Amino acid sequence: METARPMIQLGVNVDHVATLRQLRQTLYPDPLEAARLAQLGGADNITVHLREDRRHIQESDVARLVRELSIPVNLEVSLDLVILEFAVLIRPAEVCFVPERRAERTTENGLSVRLLTDRLRPVIRRLSDSGIRVSLFIDPVPDEIEAACRLGVDAVELHTGAYAESRDPESRAHRLECLRSAARLAGSRGLAVHAGHGLGYDSVVQVAAIPEIETLNIGHAIVSRAVFVGLETATRLMKERMVTARRGTT
Ligand code: PXP
Repeated sequence: METARPMIQLGVNVDHVATLRQLRQTLYPDPLEAARLAQLGGADNITVHLREDRRHIQESDVARLVRELSIPVNLEVSLDLVILEFAVLIRPAEVCFVPERRAERTTENGLSVRLLTDRLRPVIRRLSDSGIRVSLFIDPVPDEIEAACRLGVDAVELHTGAYAESRDPESRAHRLECLRSAARLAGSRGLAVHAGHGLGYDSVVQVAAIPEIETLNIGHAIVSRAVFVGLETATRLMKERMVTARRGTT
């Protein structure tokens, strides 16, 4: 029997489980064990970012996650050709292109799809030909959505950082409106709409209520909460908030 598709999905980013491990070069904590607990808590997919400096997730983590998990893996990558060949070899369900700067603490901006179109086109084709879905992490602005659409990707992930970090009510309302209209535009162009970055247990509510958004990718807040309540519970609490917020709108 076919199970009903959940109305909004949660991708749990387990990078920071690997951050803790790499800090001491220990064998623990294991991102795969974390992913399994996140799945028990309701995660619909697992996201990891294989950074050029390998500061947290390693190739072996990605390979094990893809091989062992029964839920899809979304692999975040830069335009690094070695990493791209690795992705083709390992075949995660989805690859999401993100911009990367060595000195940044975490991904800062969305991709400049318009500027990178010529570099993106062949690698998107290579991944698509290998049966891997492709997503682009972009700021919620119309020009980037149109550029992503022209490249024929499957999905865009809207950068929620500016919304999540804005403190004064006026700029928060403005940032939320940008996300709403970007989601509407992307949806109307036939793109699957994902969103994420910087979302917490409170800021997730308004974003999860945006009807076009299919998936939210969240890491730092969930892994931080897990220190106190465990990863399964931390994931369940986030998923419940998302589902409740979405139910309020449909
Ligand atoms: N989406 C993308 C594209 C990201 O790069 C990250 C951070 O790795 C996230 C979502 C998750 O962000 P956070 O850890 O702030 O929840």
